[in-house]
Amino acid sequence: MIKTSASLLACDLADISGEISRCKAAKVDWIHFDVMDGRFVEQITYGSPVLKSVRAATDMFLDAHLMVEDPGSQIKFFAQAGADLIDFHIESRCEPASLLKEIRSLGIKSALAVKPATPIDVVYPYLELCDMVLVMTVEPGYGGQAFIPDTLDKIRALRSAADSRGLKDLDIEVDGGINDKTAPLVKAAGANVLVAGTGLFKAADMALANARLKAPQKGAPC
Ligand code: DX5
Ligand code: ZN
Repeated sequence: MIKTSASLLACDLADISGEISRCKAAKVDWIHFDVMDGRFVEQITYGSPVLKSVRAATDMFLDAHLMVEDPGSQIKFFAQAGADLIDFHIESRCEPASLLKEIRSLGIKSALAVKPATPIDVVYPYLELCDMVLVMTVEPGYGGQAFIPDTLDKIRALRSAADSRGLKDLDIEVDGGINDKTAPLVKAAGANVLVAGTGLFKAADMALANARLKAPQKGAPC
């Protein structure tokens, strides 16, 4: 089952609640909430108080992508604010196993994220503790960048590692430069959760753009 997650980074931030309504009407599955701290990446975006307001405005699944240097200090705030899933970067200052366990102990889904240059096998020791792995398909920090094709090999390797360990339900999310051209490539490689900011919010017809992202691969079950 292919799911889409709309990155609010590309929306009209002066009207977040209207933009989320647009996502719901377009049958987008999740809302992707990019948290940047000005340290792990250059920019600063928004934190858990904003996610709390988003939570109050929608019942959609909230996917919090923490691009922060010290995710351990933030997990409790995002869980309390109403995130349904928290992804943090393996390249951050963290002990992955204990943070993944902490996230699950708070009753929400856990995920590890990896930057394009990070070898995918660094997440393998933690797969059983992850509900999802986020494979970045651009360098984290900015929306609107071009998809990095080298990341396809990492997605394929990760899907094969998960399958060989019997982890059929592991979600593989891709984030960055996802549009109707790159979506078929990432889905064929084994990704099943597609984040799109520009590809959804800047589309002339969000519902059509979303349907194209979600279209099943030829010959694959939907
Ligand atoms: C980048 C963010 C992405 C970004 C995707 O650091 O993690 O979620 O908003 O934006 P697009 O879809 O425009 O590449
Ligand atoms: Zn993101």
